[in-house]
Amino acid sequence: MRAPRGLAGRLCYGGDYNPEQWPEDVWREDVALMRQCGVNLVTVGVFAWSRLEPREGEYEFGWLDRVLDLLHDGGIRVSLATPTASPPPWFTFAYPDALPETASGVRLRHGSRDTYCASAPAYQEACRRVASVLAQRYADHPALALWHVHNEYGTWCHCGHVAASFRRWLRDRYGSLDALNEAWTTSFWSQHYADWEHILPPRATQYLANPSQLLDFRRFVSDELLTRFVEQRDILKASTPDVPVTTNFALGPWVPVNQWRWAREVDIVAIDHYPSSGDSLGAEEETAFAADLARGFAGGAPWLVMEQAPHHITVRGRMRPKSPGQLARLSLSYVARGSVGAMFFQWRASRGGAEMFHSAMVPHAGPATRAFAEVAAFGTELSRLSERVATAFAGQASGGFASRVAAGVALVWDPESWWALQGPGLPAPDLDYWAAVRSVHASAWRIGVTVDVVAPGADLSHYRVVLVPCLFLADQSAAGAVETVVRQGGHAVVWYLSGVAGTDGRVHPGGYPGPFRDLLGLQVEQHVPLPEGVSVALSTGGSGSLWSELLHLRGATVVATYADGDLAGEPAITRHAVAGGVAWYVATHLDDAARDALLGGVFRAANVPVEPGAGGGVELVRRRNGTVFAINHTSREAQLPLCGMDVLTGSVANGELWLGPGRAAVVAPAS
Ligand code: GLA
Repeated sequence: MRAPRGLAGRLCYGGDYNPEQWPEDVWREDVALMRQCGVNLVTVGVFAWSRLEPREGEYEFGWLDRVLDLLHDGGIRVSLATPTASPPPWFTFAYPDALPETASGVRLRHGSRDTYCASAPAYQEACRRVASVLAQRYADHPALALWHVHNEYGTWCHCGHVAASFRRWLRDRYGSLDALNEAWTTSFWSQHYADWEHILPPRATQYLANPSQLLDFRRFVSDELLTRFVEQRDILKASTPDVPVTTNFALGPWVPVNQWRWAREVDIVAIDHYPSSGDSLGAEEETAFAADLARGFAGGAPWLVMEQAPHHITVRGRMRPKSPGQLARLSLSYVARGSVGAMFFQWRASRGGAEMFHSAMVPHAGPATRAFAEVAAFGTELSRLSERVATAFAGQASGGFASRVAAGVALVWDPESWWALQGPGLPAPDLDYWAAVRSVHASAWRIGVTVDVVAPGADLSHYRVVLVPCLFLADQSAAGAVETVVRQGGHAVVWYLSGVAGTDGRVHPGGYPGPFRDLLGLQVEQHVPLPEGVSVALSTGGSGSLWSELLHLRGATVVATYADGDLAGEPAITRHAVAGGVAWYVATHLDDAARDALLGGVFRAANVPVEPGAGGGVELVRRRNGTVFAINHTSREAQLPLCGMDVLTGSVANGELWLGPGRAAVVAPAS
């Protein structure tokens, strides 16, 4: 991880700043307000291509020069974006072949954003050019702290340029058509390819498309977009080797980006995160999950939440204002879990455009508002925290691990399994990988146990527990990593639908869950999806829904059986003792209480420490240097057995910290 230049050891605070939407006198007010609320980093220029290059090859930098100078004079550093996520209207007319084409063959036109095909030579050339020009012009600008390439990579195109590039990618992956035909099971429905040129990106089809083709196309899009990122990154680095380069990862089912792979190419992992849960404490847990995910992408190193909505949460298209104090609590949760700051989309609410009702740090009503007061108050809080975090980072920069989050539990996350579980022809239409993983994370969150999110096949040897929800695509190496934890005396909990297919998307023969069978001591004979809205009772109390399976035990013992339904009396939860450890299998989607009870028992058996007082909406995150972030998301006062000084207030706790409703503390151990 490389901190934004000039901000090492300080927490970043700010957001997307779009001065091109405002007259210059507003810029002056902006900088004054930014200073007032402790903003020290703003992302500039993300969607400014049409203002930077209004006609092809003609640049207008005067306004950006003035903006950057103003910001610099105000002591505010800049994350300067390359504007390649939204080519200007002239681009459409100059390069019609570089416009994106949908799977149905419809060419999209400008009028929104992201109107380009990432495989089109003209788009690639235009991106390189604008990145080079920006790099040359601003290489020496003293405000430049970070390069922000593009915005939320994730566009799709199915045109001829993409087809050519996809074929090259497939040739590299498979080497021969025979291998591709085998991996894609093209003997099914007469899809056997005899010529590379006949392979297309997924197009609109009469009936269900080939799932392996869909999966490989997602992988290809991820790699293709990554190549585009790397091209720009290298141009920027050539001009400014000491300025870190990043891009903001989006999270969502539509995103064709494998962040595990991308994270290796950025100097600092940055995510945009917009919780969408309407449940009580849903946004809080979702925030913790996204933060743990980002820390996982970063390999445990610090990372940055680059965008979040300051004052609202959108639940199924409806904007709900955040409750008073929620901005601070959610932002602090990201920081607790490793973010080096809190950034927002966006600084000032737009007067027009498709996102004019998106909340902003400065709302339409201006700075004399509760919303802005919260922004200012949290900025002050964050700068108070900076000093303590700086000390912790110093340890990290020197190779120590002082500031890292301490977690004894690993949770496996696999974007490719997510993609595969969006494929056609699955046994149930409502399989939701994100929801399944979230439910497991939420149990740990409610119990008060911090988890690290890890990639399939990652080294898990230092974890006491590994949680494996619905890891649909799994090969021997993913299963082997899980087995290591068990063989060392730890516990693994594997959920239904794991190990069904190999990484090529084809089912492992011999019964599910393929490479996990021996470890779990069982074989799944049949998937038995449960009808919508139906739940089945379990012998141990609680219930399962969505999914069930017919299991045969091969060494595992029964923990719970179905108490009713078609599988009454059959095992639903099992355990298999292996070499001092235990491998658990959960064949149904447990209700929250049943899942919490199961995992609570597993954590106890594995000696995973639960922070006293944590759980149930009181979030406690411990750093390896002993600092504890405590956030009370509830409306009750919490009593926490903590010792040390609360960095936020300066008060000292001697074994008892009373945390009021909605309040937070960052307790540093007495040195
Ligand atoms: C994303 C984008 C921003 C903006 C926000 C709105 O994160 O990066 O440009 O569209 O969403 O939530």
